[in-house]
Amino acid sequence: MSRQPPHLLHRPSAQVMSDLQRAVALVNGGQWRQAQIHAQRVLAVTPKDSSALNVLGTVAMNTGPVDDALVWFERAAAGQPRNPFIQFNLGEAHRRLHAYPTAAKFFQRAAVLKPDFAEAHAAAGDAFRIMRQGVHAERSYQAALRLSPTLPGALSGYGLLALQNGDPSLAASRFETGCVNAPVGHPMRPVLLANLGVALLQIGQGLQAFDVLAQAVDIAPGDDEHWRRLAGALRHTRVAPATPAFRDVLCRLFERTDVNPRNLATAALAVIRQDAEIDDLLNAVAAEPRALTRTLEEKSDAASRFVQDPLFRSLLASAPIPNAAVELLLVQLRADLLAIANDEPASLEEELGLIVAIARQAFLNEYVYFASAEEQSRVDSLIAQLEHGDPEFGAGAAARIALVAAYRPLASTPLSSRLQAVDLPALADLLREQLTEPAEEARLRSTLPLLKPMVDSISIAVQQQYEENPYPRWTRCGLGAPLPFREAVQAALPELATREIPETDAPQVLVAGCGTGLETLRVTSTYRNASILAVDLSGASLGYAMRKSREYGIEVEHLQADILDLTALSQRFDLIDSFGVIHHMAEPVRGLKVLSGLLKPQGLIFLGLYSEIGRRAVVEARRHIAHGQYANSAEGIRALRRELMLAGAPAQLQSVVSPASDFWTLSDCRDLLFHVEEHRFTLPQIGELLDSAGLEFLGVQFGHQADRTRYRAENRSSDSMRDLRRLHLHEMKHPEIFGDTYRLWARRTKAPK
Ligand SMILES: C[S@@+](CC[C@H](N)C(=O)[O-])C[C@H]1O[C@@H](n2cnc3c(N)ncnc32)[C@H](O)[C@@H]1O
Repeated sequence: MSRQPPHLLHRPSAQVMSDLQRAVALVNGGQWRQAQIHAQRVLAVTPKDSSALNVLGTVAMNTGPVDDALVWFERAAAGQPRNPFIQFNLGEAHRRLHAYPTAAKFFQRAAVLKPDFAEAHAAAGDAFRIMRQGVHAERSYQAALRLSPTLPGALSGYGLLALQNGDPSLAASRFETGCVNAPVGHPMRPVLLANLGVALLQIGQGLQAFDVLAQAVDIAPGDDEHWRRLAGALRHTRVAPATPAFRDVLCRLFERTDVNPRNLATAALAVIRQDAEIDDLLNAVAAEPRALTRTLEEKSDAASRFVQDPLFRSLLASAPIPNAAVELLLVQLRADLLAIANDEPASLEEELGLIVAIARQAFLNEYVYFASAEEQSRVDSLIAQLEHGDPEFGAGAAARIALVAAYRPLASTPLSSRLQAVDLPALADLLREQLTEPAEEARLRSTLPLLKPMVDSISIAVQQQYEENPYPRWTRCGLGAPLPFREAVQAALPELATREIPETDAPQVLVAGCGTGLETLRVTSTYRNASILAVDLSGASLGYAMRKSREYGIEVEHLQADILDLTALSQRFDLIDSFGVIHHMAEPVRGLKVLSGLLKPQGLIFLGLYSEIGRRAVVEARRHIAHGQYANSAEGIRALRRELMLAGAPAQLQSVVSPASDFWTLSDCRDLLFHVEEHRFTLPQIGELLDSAGLEFLGVQFGHQADRTRYRAENRSSDSMRDLRRLHLHEMKHPEIFGDTYRLWARRTKAPK
């Protein structure tokens, strides 16, 4: 047998070495495709080269499914079992697969193999923190910071641990130190800024929080999470940073499809009111609502700046505006525009953009604005003119059509079929919202299966209400990245032990009383791989929900049914989500028993139930409504709202007319104040209700982390989070703590009584 010539012996050639060095340099520079080519060249010659396999794993982790990365890293580790960087990468791949115990093991092994590997200690800390193993997490972060006191990743994780432990001040100081050590250009800076924003919010430093959250989106505009966090933080704020950069960020937020524009409304008003004269105008309208015309004459410059403001125009077209002064001003403006249409129609077209925006606002709030009999008859004339005028809707028609749409939904007018065929680009959004989308809902609704005709008289009355006013009327919603089931449940209820949550990668979820689908979208963006059955009484609500789930590309099975009839279902669920529903049933306990019977043995139920304590102002308002004999109709609702706006709401009703209240659209206001059936509960009563339905109380969500921390501090016993009596006493002391709706968790204990 002849000996092989020396150059064919298995030894890395210069070419292989050079390819390997290139591959490593390229992967470190984030040039995935090129790195992959060079690593594959190395493997063609030396198929077990651990460094090349590690490069391919890194490429896969950044570009492809993480499972692929895991395979590469495992092969790399087989060749070099003591390489700490490969162990670290294995940990990272497991972390991304949410396999935290395994991830922690690999990170710790990396740290043992290379004791000065601060990043590995920090990453182990992150895995322990997510597993809520606080002591291990603390130890790992401290080890990381001993080795590298300014390591931004460790400071970020250590700050998150402080947040988890209910200490936002400590968290903020850690994030701040992290920011100092992650200067502009550092990849951790946006994350640290966003985390700092969250901590600052929790310690009540809203303005600073918005400022740093806005910086985070500015630096990393491609990270959707930062935008959503900022939008969530802005919900109901009354203050906003006074900088052009913040105004710009807010305008961009209005354009996003993963942000609910209703969360931006008060922030937009706060920014617009930074113009002192506009602020003065709105204050004057609020102080003397009956002197509105005089105020508008005196402050006409501010008024015209206000309605021309592009941010105001975005708000007008995207979200109901929760402010009485603005509403009164718009009601007047709409009436003035109608008068112009009558007296000097030629000049109306100049205001087309404004009229379209007002019409979009009117459609969003379901025509909750007050209109006089004179205005209504003028609108009738306008419709008649358009109906009998130019069949092509020629010059000047667009503004008049938009004006009609500012008073009535176009689909309800005799113009509707002709309008579907015309090409009026200035009205494109308006016609889509008022004609195309409702037609699509009606079509989808006709395909909807009905389990059984409703027979319960209260269910029929409730159905009727939501057929007339589907709730909530929403346009865009805040989507997030869904988590594995257990992790997602623990994010809502941190004290729930992992073993108490069904172990499933694909939870079966029933949304019982899904309304218009907003809650369903929340479910899909909370629980990874959820398959969803969404049920409601109201066909109109379900039509809306079906259109929206299609728009967001989400697969949901919809069914029209009374919860009372769901005993006919054979499917069983890991989770039932029923928010704001069973308190509208004649006998909530009957509904809850049905739902309880649909749970898998370990299944969980998430309920939104009205709080007797949190809804005290609503009870007062209902008394006021009965006393004033306001009818449960669109007219009655408009009359009540007008009275409260012109005469001012009595002190005990202030929270009902606050920006955060459901006061600003017709369906919201009907749901809040005029519901045909409403039960409210105290926490002890909820205990009895759950017990009767064979359910065990697992906990209630606190709106703010700080509230939860305070409760824990005042109630140190280990079971205090499940102690309804203590929670009740706490709510009596702090009546706002759970808002007007409890967010409760329970599970099945025994067969329903
Ligand atoms: C206040 S809305 C809440 C909608 C949705 N859960 C949300 O949070 O956005 C109440 C919904 O429950 C539905 N509902 C009330 N009673 C019901 C019943 N007996 N069976 C099915 N749905 C019911 C109503 O039709 C309505 O859409």
